[in-house]
Amino acid sequence: MKIAILKERAPGETRVAATPETVKKFAALGLEVAVEKGAGLSASVEDAAYAEAGASLGTAAATVKGADIVLGIQAPEVKLLKGAAPGAWVAALFDPFMKRALVEEYAAAGLEALSMEFMPRITRAQSMDVLSSQSNLAGYKAVLVAADAYGRAFPMMMTAAGTVQAAKCFVMGVGVAGLQAIATARRLGAQVSATDVRSATREQILSLGAKPIFVENVAGIEGEGSGGYATEMSEEYQKAQAELVSSHIAKQDIVITTALIPGRAAPRLITDAQIATMKPGSVIFDLAVAQGGNVEGSKPDETVVKHGVSIIGFSNTPAHLPADASALFARNHYNFLSAFWDKEAGKPVLDEEIGGAIRLTQGGKVVNERLQGA
Ligand code: NAI
Repeated sequence: MKIAILKERAPGETRVAATPETVKKFAALGLEVAVEKGAGLSASVEDAAYAEAGASLGTAAATVKGADIVLGIQAPEVKLLKGAAPGAWVAALFDPFMKRALVEEYAAAGLEALSMEFMPRITRAQSMDVLSSQSNLAGYKAVLVAADAYGRAFPMMMTAAGTVQAAKCFVMGVGVAGLQAIATARRLGAQVSATDVRSATREQILSLGAKPIFVENVAGIEGEGSGGYATEMSEEYQKAQAELVSSHIAKQDIVITTALIPGRAAPRLITDAQIATMKPGSVIFDLAVAQGGNVEGSKPDETVVKHGVSIIGFSNTPAHLPADASALFARNHYNFLSAFWDKEAGKPVLDEEIGGAIRLTQGGKVVNERLQGA
């Protein structure tokens, strides 16, 4: 069995899908690992480190030649995969709802596309979940970037020259990224409040020492929501939420928005009129900017200043922490393949619960239920 790791080619992508640590672990399972030369450089991994771990290094074509499994961060274009074994698996981020044409190309090429973002949110898949591992780092980075752009300090400081007030930070959307944003802002000394549509997050917000801000008069999503995911809210809820946000946001210095709904554009949480009520010098970091944005006027990879408020968002936030993001993504890949490793078959054999959830294409067809009719 041969595993191939290509250099990522998407603009701005700095991560790599394997590290020397995971190369060693794959080798211990008896797998041959090939890495394209220079694949790890932007994540601070030298070719020599891969070679020392037991990988062979070569051109893209040599890397892919005869590969049974290709691991990626973002799914490579099909033309790069010529020469891979027939029916080879490609495990990566496919962005399947947005990049449907790519999924069709994988099917036509007879490749088996495994979409890592479709990993089910079940306990045994936690260690394979790239959305969690990457969102956690993204939530951390969002706060650091916002803190850097903010012309004031985060913690309260009592100095001989007078007192510096603590920054007020509001986190909207308390999933994996939001929880880490709360924790990071607290560590930096801000006064933190947070909101979500899922009622289960109230306890989590309190346990991190932040203040929950919730719509009280209209029902949100009970408990965790389906599979831990939110759905689009009713008009009545959206109106109540907008009123709540309007009264709260005017008093905030930093706002971090993280709200996502799978398969849909990100919900709009902050309007231009609400931004106008914030103090000049405030900073908003929109972690959902690549999915359409939670904040009116946010633009990927630009700092937009409106009403004196800086609105920031990256198209690929984890790529701003390439070394850690790669290390965790690579471990997710390893945890996934090793969990399904069948000693007798000498290859991984997926079960229906996880295989069925993440497999997009097989036998020349698009086979994933979530893509039927999409
Ligand atoms: P996500 O990235 O899909 O969304 C981020 C957050 O935005 C969510 O908490 C969501 O409820 C919230 N949101 C959506 N619409 C909103 C709106 N209009 N206003 C305010 N907030 C809104 O979610 P993420 O971070 O992937 O995780 C969601 C849940 O799933 C968490 O409870 C997490 O612990 C759980 N989870 C479980 C896993 C497992 O068991 N393997 C793996 C990953 C997550």
